[in-house]
Amino acid sequence: MKLERAATLDAWADLVTGLLVQRLQRTPTLRMCLPTGLTPVPIYDRLSAAVARRDASLEHATIFLLDEFGGVAPSDPGRCDNMLRRGLLDRLAVPPAQFHRFDLTGDVLQECAAYEAAVGDGCDITLLGIGSNGHIGMNEPGSSPDSATRRVSLAAATVTASARYFNREHDLPTWGVTMGVGTILRSREIWLLATGPGKAAIVGQTLRGAITPDVPASLLRSHGNTILFTDEAAAALA
Ligand code: PGA
Repeated sequence: MKLERAATLDAWADLVTGLLVQRLQRTPTLRMCLPTGLTPVPIYDRLSAAVARRDASLEHATIFLLDEFGGVAPSDPGRCDNMLRRGLLDRLAVPPAQFHRFDLTGDVLQECAAYEAAVGDGCDITLLGIGSNGHIGMNEPGSSPDSATRRVSLAAATVTASARYFNREHDLPTWGVTMGVGTILRSREIWLLATGPGKAAIVGQTLRGAITPDVPASLLRSHGNTILFTDEAAAALA
């Protein structure tokens, strides 16, 4: 796993967005897996601006949403699909058929199997945040390196942390669906994103600790083309 550290949050977001714009210029049909959460927000702001300037286009790209919370109303602003729409897709011309997300109104098992099949031999590029317990997507500690897209229970800390997306302290989701670690590892490139002092400990463990399902992000070290992008604060223990 290669480490790319930027001096500031702005420099970090400029670096990652610049590289993503290059990928889109080179491959307009890029198949991307995108996360939600707070970490990628500055990247999506810059990417939207780059598209507005016509430096890049997502018109021919395909987007796979990394994960989704279960048991919440389709209109709930904390749902991952709604966060990505708000933060990025509503500001760009992405044809709806090229945005893959999870429909959890029917048979969840079937939905996960269909998602896994749609991802096929993997995305060209996968962007990921990291949880303070090392989760990637909703692959919580204990996730197998060959896990597929599936329904998962959320760790207690993840449930509590999700309050910042839902703007409430109660009725938070306790399960979700996520691309598996195996699904992610099929991606040609993986970019792990971490910013702020709150991520410093898990960044250190991901880079220097054991490669173990107990720290799902550490499993990315077995992938030959993974870059961990941090700002200085998140790299304090790297
Ligand atoms: P965050 O979430 O980007 O909101 O910190 C990351 C994660 O839990 O995967």
